[in-house]
Amino acid sequence: MTVQADISEEIVRLKKPRNAVILAHNYQVPEVQDVADFTGDSLGLSQAAARTDADVIVFCGVHFMAETASILCPDKTVLLPDLEAGCSLAATITADELRQWKAQHPEAVVVSYVNTSAEVKAESDYCCTSANAAKVVQAIPSDREILFLPDLYLGDYVAKVTGRKNIRVWPGECHVHAGIRPGDFKEALRLHPDADEVFIHPECGCTTNCMTFAQEEADMEEKIHILSTSGMIRRSAASPARKFIVATETGILYPLQKGNPDKVFVPLKEDAVCEYMKRITLEKVLRSLEEMVFQVKVAEDLAARGRTAIHRMLELA
Ligand code: 13P
Ligand code: SF4
Repeated sequence: MTVQADISEEIVRLKKPRNAVILAHNYQVPEVQDVADFTGDSLGLSQAAARTDADVIVFCGVHFMAETASILCPDKTVLLPDLEAGCSLAATITADELRQWKAQHPEAVVVSYVNTSAEVKAESDYCCTSANAAKVVQAIPSDREILFLPDLYLGDYVAKVTGRKNIRVWPGECHVHAGIRPGDFKEALRLHPDADEVFIHPECGCTTNCMTFAQEEADMEEKIHILSTSGMIRRSAASPARKFIVATETGILYPLQKGNPDKVFVPLKEDAVCEYMKRITLEKVLRSLEEMVFQVKVAEDLAARGRTAIHRMLELA
C-alpha cells in the first residue's frame, strides 16, 4: 500500500473515536477531497457544518470557512489543519474599515461575501456566497442602499444580474480569480474552438467582460455559464456538453473529472492555483485528528452577531 493510502486509512480510522466529520472545499488537493465526508462550495460547506451531529469538524479549506463553522456550531470543536491557510480576498477589508464605510452610509444594508473574517461578519446584515449572492440582494427592499463587500467582480456581477443601481461595491479581489483576465478568456476560446461550454466563477477578473460577450456574440449566451464551484459540478453532470473550459481555481478540475470521466475539462488559466487552499495536506489532516489541532474558536459575543447574517443567508438558500 502507498504511504498516502496508509495515511488516508489512518484518518478514516481516527474519525470514529473522535466522532469527527471532515469537510473539504472543491479546491482542496484530490487526496484530501477523497478522504472527506462532504465536499462542496462555501454555501454547501456552511450547510453541512450547520447540520452535522459530529463533535469535531476538521475543516479542509481556509480560515474564514473554519470560522464560519465555529460561528454556526459553537458547541463543536472546529479544527483547521494549517492556520496559515488564509485568503487574500478576506484580507482586503477589516472590521474597522467596514465600520468607517457604514458610518458614511448609515442607512445602507451590508451584504458580506462569506470570504470575510468573523469580525467583518459581525458588522454585516447579510452574508452571501457566490451561489446565492444575487438571491440575497434581491431579498433586500429595492429602495434600500446596499454596501456589498469585499469582492469587486462578484459585486459588479450581482449589480448587473439584479439591475440594482443603489449598490456600492468594496474594491477587494482574490489574487487567483482577479488574475483570470478577459485576454485569457479570449485566448482559451482560440485554443479550444471545440469547447461546448465555458464555466466562469463570478470572482474572476473576466466576469463582466464575459457577460457582455455572451450578450453580443452569437451562440455565446448558451455557452457561457457563471457559476459557483458546486454550480459547476451540478451543471457538468446535467449538461449534454462534452468539453468545458473552466475559469476558477484549478482544484475544481478534480471533482469535475471524477464525476464525468467521459467528458473533457480544461482550465481557462492553468496557473490559477490558490496557495492557501493547497496548504492543507493529508499529513496535516492526520495530525489535526491525532493532536486535535488547530482549533478555530470565534468568541461567543462576536459569533452571535455574525450568526444572524449567516442564518439570514441560509434561510434564503
Ligand atoms: P465557492 O466555492 O463558494 O464558489 O467559492 C469560491 C472561493 O473562492 C472560495 O474561497
Ligand atoms: Fe481566497 Fe481566492 Fe484562495 Fe478562494 S481562491 S481562498 S477567494 S485567495
